[in-house]
Amino acid sequence: MTAPDTGPAAWPDPTDDYVPHAPGYVDNPGPKIVTRRFRHPDSHTLERYLATGGYEGLAAALRRTPAEVHAEVREAVLLGRGGAGFPAGIKWGFLPPGKFPYYLVVNGDESEPGTYKDRLLMERDPHQLIEGCLIACYALGLRQCFLYVRGEMALAQERLAAALNEAYAAGYVGREILGSDFSVDITLTWGAGAYIVGEETALIESLEGNRGMPRLKPPYFPAAIGLYGQPTIVNNVETLSNLPWILRHGADAYKTYGSETSPGTRMLAISGHVERPGVYEVEQGVVTFRDLFYGEAYCRGIRGGRELKMFIPGGGSSPWFFPEQLDLPLEGRPVGAAGSMLGSGAIVVMDDTVDAVEAAHRVVRFFARESCGKCTPCREGTTWEERILERILDGEGRPADLDLLADIADNISPGPYPVAGWEAEGLEPVPFPPRQTTICPLGPSSVAPIASTLRRFRHEYEARITRRDSLPVTAEAPTPTPPADAEPTGVTA
Ligand SMILES: Cc1cc2nc3c(=O)[nH]c(=O)nc-3n(C[C@H](O)[C@H](O)[C@H](O)COP(=O)(O)O)c2cc1C
Ligand code: SF4
Repeated sequence: MTAPDTGPAAWPDPTDDYVPHAPGYVDNPGPKIVTRRFRHPDSHTLERYLATGGYEGLAAALRRTPAEVHAEVREAVLLGRGGAGFPAGIKWGFLPPGKFPYYLVVNGDESEPGTYKDRLLMERDPHQLIEGCLIACYALGLRQCFLYVRGEMALAQERLAAALNEAYAAGYVGREILGSDFSVDITLTWGAGAYIVGEETALIESLEGNRGMPRLKPPYFPAAIGLYGQPTIVNNVETLSNLPWILRHGADAYKTYGSETSPGTRMLAISGHVERPGVYEVEQGVVTFRDLFYGEAYCRGIRGGRELKMFIPGGGSSPWFFPEQLDLPLEGRPVGAAGSMLGSGAIVVMDDTVDAVEAAHRVVRFFARESCGKCTPCREGTTWEERILERILDGEGRPADLDLLADIADNISPGPYPVAGWEAEGLEPVPFPPRQTTICPLGPSSVAPIASTLRRFRHEYEARITRRDSLPVTAEAPTPTPPADAEPTGVTA
């Protein structure tokens, strides 16, 4: 089969198995845990799934007690892939004993700027996700799971619906699964395209049929008070997609990949100015940003041989990094100590042609539009940030605007905001996370592009403002003409 022309020849490498959907995946060398079926054009079917070890993790789980399965996941140190990187096994342990029913909610609402790895998992290996849900349900003793998919992801919804039908018909989902006394229903549902519904409590609100707005934590930690007021585990699509492999091969085998504190692999979506953007599955904590951007197996350098100016290491919410941070390993702790986060696994690379103020404005505008409006510092603050950046870009900036931006940012996220260090200037990093006056982290996320670029490229902001101040006042400047019947004002031209 010949690949259709969807972009640069190297993106992705066309092969006989080329799949026209989701062209962003790059099948690079290295261990593969969650993307290993992606090379098959029929990877989404039950037939292919069963031919490649599918549902064997579930069978292995059913041969053990739920507590043993939970212990295996805890032992694997499976870190959540939705943003915060919290270990799944420990989160599962927060369910209060005996307060049934419990629910599992799968967060497939992926929409952080730059992130598109969960979509690939849902489109290309829906049975792997379903099997992951079943293993989690078995370990936690629950009977109802909700799969919440982003509204725009039509193909993901279609593939998941087809896979669920196949799995129900084959006895993998439903009553007395594989002849055991374990029964579970999985309900597929989808959102209407609001970014904030990716936040777990907003997602629960939306599932309940309400407008998707975050709840206050505490008290509304989902494990304590979640869907319909019941204890609820919310896990990300990629987190759950790791479970079949872990149950099939064991936690020890899982820990042979990655680093001690971040075992296994993770999917990273790299976009922007690299030669070969796309989604890669990489070992955590072993590969560095430099390997990823410049390595032959990965992105093969900055496009056209240009210089790297800055990069967003973990989705639009994360503070930005610069060339000095290139040698950091792709692992939560060192990245957090260096002033940012790996977040949702989206990396946006910007070369030296990028205007820092324009780039910051683009991301801030996203957060201003997506703010749900429930709390004042975020609703008002993000709008003001956007407007001030806009007037600076329009040549209408005032010298006081930079302090004003910093002041608004401080109202949303008080105190020093996480930023990368700058050795040449003797500036230390401020570690992640930021503080917040808001209900959820969306408000503080809007500060990331401003704090990052203001520290590093203040001169670019000042140049735009000074240029405007130094504009010559020419004789040709239009003078408003008062209407003939206007009262004299006493001012003479
Ligand atoms: C504004 C905002 C948007 C979020 N969007 C997503 C998302 O699209 N997908 C996701 O899995 N987690 C998202 N999260 C994180 C979730 O609240 C939650 O931590 C996650 O789904 C838990 O899954 P995990 O423990 O498996 O990572 C978002 C958080 C915030 C604050
Ligand atoms: S921080 Fe923003 S998005 Fe989050 S609850 Fe408040 S207004 Fe809504």
